Amino acid sequence: MSFFSVVSRDKDSDARTGKMILPHGVVDTPVFMPVGTLGTVKAIDFSDLTDMGFNMILGNTYHLYLRPGMEVISAAGGLHKFIGWDKNILTDSGGFQVFSLSKLRKITDDGVAFRSHIDGSSHFFSPEEVVRIQRILGSDVMMQLDVCTSPGISYKEALEAVKLTTSWAIRSKKELANYDDYTGVLFPIIQGNFFPELRKRSAEELLQLDLPGIAIGGLSVGEEFSVFEDTLAYTVGFIPQNKPRYIMGIGTPEYILTAVEKGIDMFDCVFPTRTARNASVFTHTGRISLKRKEYQKDFSPIDNTCDCYTCRNYSKAYLRHLFKSGEIMASVLATHHNIYFLKNLVDKIREHITTGDYAKFKADFLSAYSGGKE
Ligand code: GUN
Ligand code: ZN
Repeated sequence: MSFFSVVSRDKDSDARTGKMILPHGVVDTPVFMPVGTLGTVKAIDFSDLTDMGFNMILGNTYHLYLRPGMEVISAAGGLHKFIGWDKNILTDSGGFQVFSLSKLRKITDDGVAFRSHIDGSSHFFSPEEVVRIQRILGSDVMMQLDVCTSPGISYKEALEAVKLTTSWAIRSKKELANYDDYTGVLFPIIQGNFFPELRKRSAEELLQLDLPGIAIGGLSVGEEFSVFEDTLAYTVGFIPQNKPRYIMGIGTPEYILTAVEKGIDMFDCVFPTRTARNASVFTHTGRISLKRKEYQKDFSPIDNTCDCYTCRNYSKAYLRHLFKSGEIMASVLATHHNIYFLKNLVDKIREHITTGDYAKFKADFLSAYSGGKE
């Protein structure tokens, strides 16, 4: 059996369903991966994720390396054992986090020197070291160390980032070849900012390595939606059908539905969990804030079409009270709903690609969803 196979294709778009065979189980795609940065998906238990049908989450090399550190995770027998999750884990390389969180980072051809956002201590990530760390974590999918760039940078800077990312991908692949015992896979990350020719160059160079899957990075970083959509479609155009395509950091219904339409198979985002803890929840008519006064005596569920545990048992009035009182259960119940909502959406996406009416499903979903209040 090959690592990835396309199962069905939508006739009107590039959407497809597929199967990915990983060390900790088969993953049906398109798949949404909840983010468990520090080895926990915030405010939701793994048993709930399993009951909802998730079998893949994301972890972060940068965070786990800094705390609790590799000595602890290695002694535990790897990340799966340490955190008590026996399904798949994809780990991000730290490329993005070093750029967004750490202080005083300095990039050289060899790697990136940075200071911890926790205690200011100095560290160095080379592409080889990041492969070694992710091997100790036991990642089912490990990501290469890459160079992310912000919108608005010059062509020259974006070109430098692409060159380094390609060179680091080659070095990551080489390093991984030293470990026969590793059963997971390595994905490279396409960069190139918003310059079409750099996206093309990055994709072509990385595809030459013929790794099992490929990611698209540096998107949804503040650009306009149409720019996101065009850059994504253009980039996916270079990737052959037989590789899973992972877009990093995408997690709202609008972005997910569009990414899938362009042929994306995997996505992750902190958005549903982070916003839930801030009282913002999905409904089929858009996002709402549970803190609003109008819900003070609204004894209906968050969404009357949702059959999650929260919606089956609790009202908006009660959840508003929990948020207003700063109760821990407010985050837990809202997170449960948001994660369930996205799981349900992605399950339906796969169903409608299979039955061949994905375009109609997307249009119907978005026309109801854009009536939201937030
Ligand atoms: N998460 C969101 N975007 C990116 C990216 O471009 N690179 C990495 N490594 N992680 C990301
Ligand atoms: Zn619900």
